[in-house]
Amino acid sequence: MNYFALIPAAGVGARMAVGYPKQYLPLLGRPMLRHTVEAFLRCPQVAHTYVVVSAEDAYVDEVLPAGLAGVTVLRCGGATRMESIRNGLRLLAEGAAADDRVLVHDAARPGLTPALVDKLIAEAGRDPAGGLLALPVVDTVKSTRRGSVATTPRDGLWLAQTPQMFPYALLMRALEEAPDPDAITDDASAVELLGFSPRLVEGHPRNLKVTLPTDARIAEMYLSMDTEQ
Ligand code: CTP
Ligand code: MG
Repeated sequence: MNYFALIPAAGVGARMAVGYPKQYLPLLGRPMLRHTVEAFLRCPQVAHTYVVVSAEDAYVDEVLPAGLAGVTVLRCGGATRMESIRNGLRLLAEGAAADDRVLVHDAARPGLTPALVDKLIAEAGRDPAGGLLALPVVDTVKSTRRGSVATTPRDGLWLAQTPQMFPYALLMRALEEAPDPDAITDDASAVELLGFSPRLVEGHPRNLKVTLPTDARIAEMYLSMDTEQ
């Protein structure tokens, strides 16, 4: 069984609003995407890393030069994250067996470490339903859905991160059959709709998704820290 990484990096970063896609934002002097890819390159268990960018991407050749071992850039990005991933998976069809595991990981999570990848593979790598990194909710959760404020018990609640890892054939089927692509906010939710129960593996706050301008400084703080995670 092989483990492959698939990194969607075809977004525009509208909320970050730096004038170019946020995956190229320098963090400690290196583009965010390069940090993200390095986590997998430093992980011997991952056989190969695929990065999905948009067809018009003008930056990737400099950040991931053609000769860089272990990485393939796929210029097949779609209009949504889910489409980018689906397009990438289709291009993997010839090289991936049904049972090979695909670790889908957002380019916008540069704080991932090889240790976290190893932990995910160790705890969920053989689970037929796959698994994902997630964080237990620590704050008290409030809901305003029914017009008044209510408190939702936080036990049993998790915040989903990536990587999200599934057998190739299962993930392909889940994304091809997803009834409403806009309602699919992560890969695991598409797999859950098929009746599978992916395993949740505790991640780490350093694996935050860089979404807003203030997140970039937090990401740099974690990237500058030595961490056992
Ligand atoms: N992504 C993608 N293709 C898209 C949209 C998003 O590959 N059409 C990727 C992004 O590049 C990112 C990940 O999916 O690595 C998570 O998406 P998000 O954080 O929402 O990034 P953006 O869509 O770029 O940001 P925004 O929503 O603020 O525009
Ligand atoms: Mg987005």
